[in-house]
Amino acid sequence: MAAQTKVRKAVLPVAGFGTRVLPGTKVVAKELLNVVDRPILSYIVAEARAAGIEHFVFVTGRGKAAIEDYFDHHVELEAALESKGKTALLNEIRTELPRPGEMSFVRQMQPLGLGHAVWCARDIVGDEPFAVMLPDMIMAAARPALGQLVDAHARTGGNLILVEPVPEAEVHKYGVVAPDPTRPRQGAVIPISGMVEKPPVGTAPSNLYVNGRYILQPEIFGLLADQTAGAGGEIQLTDAMARLMASQPFHAVELDGHTHDCGDKIGLLRANVAMALARPDLGAAAREAIEELLG
Ligand code: UTP
Repeated sequence: MAAQTKVRKAVLPVAGFGTRVLPGTKVVAKELLNVVDRPILSYIVAEARAAGIEHFVFVTGRGKAAIEDYFDHHVELEAALESKGKTALLNEIRTELPRPGEMSFVRQMQPLGLGHAVWCARDIVGDEPFAVMLPDMIMAAARPALGQLVDAHARTGGNLILVEPVPEAEVHKYGVVAPDPTRPRQGAVIPISGMVEKPPVGTAPSNLYVNGRYILQPEIFGLLADQTAGAGGEIQLTDAMARLMASQPFHAVELDGHTHDCGDKIGLLRANVAMALARPDLGAAAREAIEELLG
């Protein structure tokens, strides 16, 4: 495992087609769809910064160039806001911008699966532990979600996967972890011995589903290099992680918070409602509008 232990880099795979939220994603990257008033990615980058991430590696593809533009100056817009005295808005836009050089963009070229997307970041990540953040999952949590993983990593080292409980009846839709019966759970940190993708009803090893945040050791790249296509004909990160488990420790960390899956229609709608209700400046008006709609 890498000598470097601090998690400094995060890989954000953004090259998928977003078919579950078509037709909008034909022209707007799923990761740039607004939740309330900002792109989904804006929440993810804020979460990563709060966890101490210093460098962002976006794995992009065709039609995703607007992501690069979002995290850059918009000279005309900034000048217009300045001349109109809209200082608060201007500051908000500028505060989110990265320092020059803090973000890298690599092209996946073909969306062959999440595992393949992560592998495309290998040269930029190099030989150190790194985070993977699925950028269609917004996490509502008092301590930002990736920060919870980073805290656990400082104690356990190795590889970590964030998880969240789902009702038993829904377990078959998700990837779930198998807790290791020989090693006890310590608070939110659960030693695991395996993972199962979409287990048939009644066979799941737990109800803890993998919700889109990982800390991985760089040895995963060597395994991804020869990983063959798995479920859905895609090169799966899960399959390479299962192989890495043979030689390195893995822990799951139960999220203290809640995940909004913005990758499908209802999840995206729920995220909008939940994030609006939670906003000090919008919550009361949002509640009023929702109650009115519900009659
Ligand atoms: P998803 O499977 O949720 O995204 O992958 P998708 O493929 O865009 O969505 P659907 O299933 O067609 O609706 C999770 C994340 O991984 C990225 C996606 O962009 C998404 O943010 N991804 C997925 C890649 O970057 N490359 C891939 O080959 C697959």
